[in-house]
Amino acid sequence: MRVLGIETSCDETGVAIYDSEKGLLGDALYSQVKMHAEYGGVVPELASRDHVRKLLPLIDEVFAEAKLTKGDIDAVAYTSGPGLIGALMVGASTGRAMAMAWGLPAIGVHHMEGHLLAPMLEENPPEFPFVALLVSGGHTQLVRVDGIGEYELLGESLDDAAGEAFDKAAKMMGLDYPGGPLIAKHAQQGDRSRFTFPRPMIDRPGMDFSFSGLKTFTLNTANQHRDEDGNLDHQTICDIAAAFEEAVVDTLAIKCRRALQHTGFKQLIIAGGVSANQRLRERLEVMVNKERAQLFYARPEFCTDNGAMIAFAGCQRLVAGQQSDLTIVTKPRWPLDTLEPL
Ligand code: KG4
Ligand code: ZN
Repeated sequence: MRVLGIETSCDETGVAIYDSEKGLLGDALYSQVKMHAEYGGVVPELASRDHVRKLLPLIDEVFAEAKLTKGDIDAVAYTSGPGLIGALMVGASTGRAMAMAWGLPAIGVHHMEGHLLAPMLEENPPEFPFVALLVSGGHTQLVRVDGIGEYELLGESLDDAAGEAFDKAAKMMGLDYPGGPLIAKHAQQGDRSRFTFPRPMIDRPGMDFSFSGLKTFTLNTANQHRDEDGNLDHQTICDIAAAFEEAVVDTLAIKCRRALQHTGFKQLIIAGGVSANQRLRERLEVMVNKERAQLFYARPEFCTDNGAMIAFAGCQRLVAGQQSDLTIVTKPRWPLDTLEPL
């Protein structure tokens, strides 16, 4: 089955074609980050309008790249939620309407299920069951995964998501949006021992996270080192970035280890924008080796939002006979553990 996938839940327009036999046939992404950077974060109304402008040309581009025409597609998958309601409506209405016009089945996909399955687009994919750490701009969750749609939430952030914490910490240091990649870049030149940040919640049992204290610690540290104009020198930014990244990565690694021990599973997958973080990958690699387990992740461009993960996740459900009806459903909030198993 050949599926056209559409992702428009936030500030990235993503389109891809996935074939259940041949794999990924084409994918394209248009990122709005430059437009939102001016405002220091995503402006929902601007995001929706830009998806309207970019989606159809991007779909055309993917068909051309894959050397396919509309008649070669068997179904359409689009992100139904969670995400920004206006942004979701662009992809969902376009996807659903195209499927109706072409007489094809369509399916609304859960954005985080897309992220969770993205490592399966790579060579040597993980096999069920496994533990998944979902770390994006809106979610930080540890999930026991027994199969597609068989998700048990083991822990989650009680306040900010990991990506959100990266973005807010970056802003405090005068870095642009999105802050995650910029913190990672500055951290590489940082002295990881100059500042020691707390590791939130590690002395408490369980697998929940909290990042708001770390945010306050970042702000206080930054404020103690600002010059008369309120600016930080480059080295201090790098050193705070390094200490912040180290604290987040450490906390995530400790909870992932607990999840592996709790489930007895030997595979850990990481997904979502923050899973592109090199330091996180390195630290988790060391941890899983000690646990005699294996780590899986997607290539960096499939860690952040993309159309390929939606085409892939939709394809798995469509092949199993699931599909959505003609009502266009968008859900800004949609708990992952309420999904239907295959
Ligand atoms: O999954 P994603 O693209 O969108 C959501 O579904 O939220 O994740 C975006 C988040 C942003 O907060 C961004 O700062 C963070 O992922 N991010 C990173 C890195 N790349 C993206 N955080 C840390 N290190 C990175 N290399
Ligand atoms: Zn995402």
